[in-house]
Amino acid sequence: MIEEIKPAEGDGVGGSMAKVTIIGAGQTGATTAQWLAEREIADLVLVDIVEDMPQGKSLDLMQAMPVLISDAKILGTNGYEETAGSDIVVITAGVTRKPGMSRDDLMQTNSKIMTHAVQESLKRSPDAILIILTNPLDAMSQLAMKVGQLPRERVIGQAGILDSARMRAFVAMELGVSVQNVNCYVLGGHGDSMVPLVRHSNVAGVPLMDILPAKRLQAIVERTRKGGGEIVSLLKTASASYAPAAALAQMVEAILRDRHLIVPASAYLQGEYGISGIFFGVPVQLGKGGMERIIEYDLNEEELEAVRKSAAHVRKTIEGLPA
Ligand code: APR
Repeated sequence: MIEEIKPAEGDGVGGSMAKVTIIGAGQTGATTAQWLAEREIADLVLVDIVEDMPQGKSLDLMQAMPVLISDAKILGTNGYEETAGSDIVVITAGVTRKPGMSRDDLMQTNSKIMTHAVQESLKRSPDAILIILTNPLDAMSQLAMKVGQLPRERVIGQAGILDSARMRAFVAMELGVSVQNVNCYVLGGHGDSMVPLVRHSNVAGVPLMDILPAKRLQAIVERTRKGGGEIVSLLKTASASYAPAAALAQMVEAILRDRHLIVPASAYLQGEYGISGIFFGVPVQLGKGGMERIIEYDLNEEELEAVRKSAAHVRKTIEGLPA
């Protein structure tokens, strides 16, 4: 038996730094912890149902900190007691797609996991902001808000940063420019009906449509729509995790640092874009209050039609949530 080394008095997780809990210490949860620990902006608690696994991963991460020069503390657990007093709870727990499955196919199993995770977290962290990753994303965010009886500012789904980053990566590859120069915006549901806003996307300020031939642009849009599926079919037994985790870390950081950062994310709409009563991917502003504002772009008729189509798909998925 290896003797445990106890933290110094008052120096446990959440002692002096903000506290972030990540539920689901799988591929995405653990990678999110890594991105966040490197930034040294919060102490972290990793929760998973697999016995000993979150403890092992957190110990491994703690041992990376001296090399990365971060005093963030990371604790792994199979329960919720240690999550008490978290500022943000990130929920990645759930089952992932296998090749040929859609995100919607995960609904039944992941609804149960989400309900439990939200209830148990809020019991111990009643003021926490929830960031949801589990698929089907828009429906799981809706469920989290309902189960937690939370105001919409406190539940945000991660999808848009990832979808936009996929498009940015493809454009940068195609043109041989830095990803820093590429701005792309993808709205809508997190699925094949997502709406890449080509007209609003640019490279160093020059509209994408003026740089890329229509055919190439169409190919990039299609690859973005199917970006998650492409990775599932390559990995076969897992889905994307590095890019989703990077997106989660960016959201957590924007909230903790009160950046007022505008990014695409899934938020509960109350009339914006002509849509009400569902979570949907839109540009939002993130700061210490969570989702501070929804930004409404001026969309043309064609874009609005794509948004309506995507919203109809999301609404249908959400109607399939257990009552
Ligand atoms: N409580 C805590 N953790 C759970 C629970 C639960 N009730 N149920 C499952 N988990 C854990 C699993 O044990 C696993 O470690 O969630 C983790 C999910 O990790 P991965 O299988 O590696 O999946 P990942 O690639 O990280 O995807 C996370 O994103 O794509 C979505 O819906 C998909 O839920 C998945 C999430």
